[in-house]
Amino acid sequence: MSDAPKHTTTYWDYIRVKELLSLQTGLAGDESELASDEVVFITVHQVYELWFKLALKDLEAARDHFAQPHVPDDRMAGACRKLERLLVIFRLASDHFPLIETLTTRDYLEFRDKLFPANGGQSAQFRELEILFGLDVENIRLPYVTGGSFEEVLRSPDGSTGWSLERVKARQADRPTFREAIDAWLYRTPIEGSTPDRADDAARTDAFIDAYLAAHRKAITELADNVLASVPADEAPTLKARYDAEIEQAAHFLRAEDVDEAARPHRRRVRTAALYIEIYRELPLLAWPRKVLDLIVAVEQAFVSYRQRHARMAERIIGRRVGTGGSSGVDYLDQTALAYRIFPDLWAVRTVLVRRDLLPDPSHTEEYGFRYGG
Ligand code: HEM
Repeated sequence: MSDAPKHTTTYWDYIRVKELLSLQTGLAGDESELASDEVVFITVHQVYELWFKLALKDLEAARDHFAQPHVPDDRMAGACRKLERLLVIFRLASDHFPLIETLTTRDYLEFRDKLFPANGGQSAQFRELEILFGLDVENIRLPYVTGGSFEEVLRSPDGSTGWSLERVKARQADRPTFREAIDAWLYRTPIEGSTPDRADDAARTDAFIDAYLAAHRKAITELADNVLASVPADEAPTLKARYDAEIEQAAHFLRAEDVDEAARPHRRRVRTAALYIEIYRELPLLAWPRKVLDLIVAVEQAFVSYRQRHARMAERIIGRRVGTGGSSGVDYLDQTALAYRIFPDLWAVRTVLVRRDLLPDPSHTEEYGFRYGG
């Protein structure tokens, strides 16, 4: 008789199918007590929680990669794969809403009243995703009801911290966030071959910003001259003011004049590095960083689309009534889609890009060859 181990694994044991299928009972002890629409409602939410779980894992891995003090060039492909999967997950999450839209308003109202004050804002994993991404909670988090923090919504009904809030607090303590890690990585990116440890780095960065802004001014002025020559006279002043503002805003953005003086040199370097990567992406060392930035914008776009898609689904099912969590409902959801941006700088860089032939020539290009290993 052979001593070879017997292969006894089954699909149902490995996937834990029995346990999985026993979880759709909601508040009832038995699923048979629920209408099929309510089972759909519960199941769809559970599937979302599973997507969120996977998204958290990939986001954590991507964060860990960029949080290293030296990010190895040869590991960039692996980090990009994590971001690519995040993108797929968020796209799938948006595409998953039609299933819940099979519920009519009347179907949902059959069981909605028993949900109060339960609501999606109590999804710890969703909040964890926002926090790990680096959503600027202090500055932009919208309250459900005036003054109430998002943390209050996560408390258990008896006021205790409970499982959800504990998870979220642990995530808040888990630093750096993905955004902080990307910021630090961008901050270290060579600009004109110079890194922040060099004494003349600020001067070199500023010289590059000046050269770039001159190119930007030229691009917008040329365009404005052409456009203004062909518009009706009464429209010209408004359009001219817009083009002038665009020139001014580019300078304001790259010089980081919107942030306080203490944070300005850091922000200026981060923004300039993001621009540098974007415009000189053909330099070998910048090819992967450019891919990373592009993927981050794509992931954020998918996240925003998810928020918008959720809002339209909610409007279709409940109209504009107050949410089960007490927020203004669809109005609140639309505001989050509009206001919540995690990487505003990466989006803003797109506004200031100019045609390739107008770009200043990069200097010290010998610094941008590939390096293997760390
Ligand atoms: C009948 C279907 C649904 C309706 C009518 C609906 C409606 C709403 C409303 C009105 C809010 C604002 C909070 C409040 O209740 O006052 C909310 C929040 C939320 N919902 Fe839904 N929802 C539905 C299904 C889902 C599904 C399937 C998910 C997937 C996980 C989900 C995830 C969330 C999340 C994460 C929030 C918090 C959003 C934030 O604060 O940024 N919802 N939902």
